[in-house]
Amino acid sequence: MVVQVAIMGLGVVGGGTADLLTENHDLILSRTGVDIRIKYILDIRDLPDSPYADRIVHDISVIASDPEVAVVAETIGGVHPAYEFTRRLLEAGKSVVSSNKQLVSEYGVELLSVAEKAGCVYLYEASTGGGIPILSPLRYDLAGNEISEISGILNGTTNYILTRMISGGVDFEDALAEAKAKGYAEANPTADIDGHDAARKIAILAATAFGHLIPTERIHTEGIRGIRLSDVRAAESIGARIKLLGRALRLGGELFILVAPFLVFDSCPLARIDDVYNGVLVHGNYVGDLLFYGRGAGAKATASAVAADLISAASSALTGALTNPVWTPADESEPSDFASFACRHYIALSGVEANAVDVIFGKTEPVPTVEGEIAFLTELMTEREALERLERISASGATLQSRIRVCDRTE
Ligand code: HSE
Repeated sequence: MVVQVAIMGLGVVGGGTADLLTENHDLILSRTGVDIRIKYILDIRDLPDSPYADRIVHDISVIASDPEVAVVAETIGGVHPAYEFTRRLLEAGKSVVSSNKQLVSEYGVELLSVAEKAGCVYLYEASTGGGIPILSPLRYDLAGNEISEISGILNGTTNYILTRMISGGVDFEDALAEAKAKGYAEANPTADIDGHDAARKIAILAATAFGHLIPTERIHTEGIRGIRLSDVRAAESIGARIKLLGRALRLGGELFILVAPFLVFDSCPLARIDDVYNGVLVHGNYVGDLLFYGRGAGAKATASAVAADLISAASSALTGALTNPVWTPADESEPSDFASFACRHYIALSGVEANAVDVIFGKTEPVPTVEGEIAFLTELMTEREALERLERISASGATLQSRIRVCDRTE
């Protein structure tokens, strides 16, 4: 059965998607029975040399008003005009699949509801974890589990930088320069380095698992600018690596959600995820721990996820079998107050006497570090308690060099 589709934005991901649908057309048809044909590609450029030049259009109305087009991939990125185009297409009854984490994390509730009312679907597998199938497994394969944890390395750029610091012994600035030279980091890598990209992705993962979309402003977000080579080495000396994690944790009645660098011990599978790769660890109350691993970015990997949604939406256009995820806005009480989030902490101080550490932090575990500093792991304590103790130790004349949370987890 033929299904006509369109792609909005022939950039890296849109181009990869067009290539995949062309190269693997017969394979998809033989596997699924769906004959996917790209009827239009929306782009502001003419692209006369593109193999898809004959299908380029510049006006969204052409796609929105064509009754033959059943599914559209949105690979434009950013909020505008992606939001207006997506809404218009959904209202016209066309399913939309998106790789746009910013749009999904800001407007997901609204766009899913528009899709539901219009009798089509809005899918977003490619928005998080690049090529890793993670949102669909959370929705379908784990539907029978209560999910208590999603912890992920969700940003390839920062994982590359941290990996180079760990295994190459280079400092943050040099590792960032390398990431830029290799084309991993954008010219302005702020969203990656400061954790905002990972915050969008953990919001999307948490909404898919728990049904409530937490605005990213409510997600405690820290990046990796402050990570020093000496912290990386100190972590290594105790069998741990520093990783930027996005975490959504359901503990008792609480929901904590944060993005921050963590000390991850080598016994945790996330410690082994290196370079630009992403990994997402999910804990379900029946299945236990699951690890999803793969390329979190790049034309081909992300196209794989866009194509997965396109194929699902195209089949559903024929059978009506697919439904929309149900998302509602987060309650005022969500997430829980971050001051109550408890974990152990790695702390490095200078200008401090060991006995002041004992008095203020109680029992600690020493961590070998550079001369002139004292580093240690605290016992489990809340953010509130950690900040209160850090204030006291600063008042005694110490200077805080680093504080990194510890990712302690047992299955
Ligand atoms: N800048 C992102 C990353 C791209 O480095 O992971 C994929 O979302």
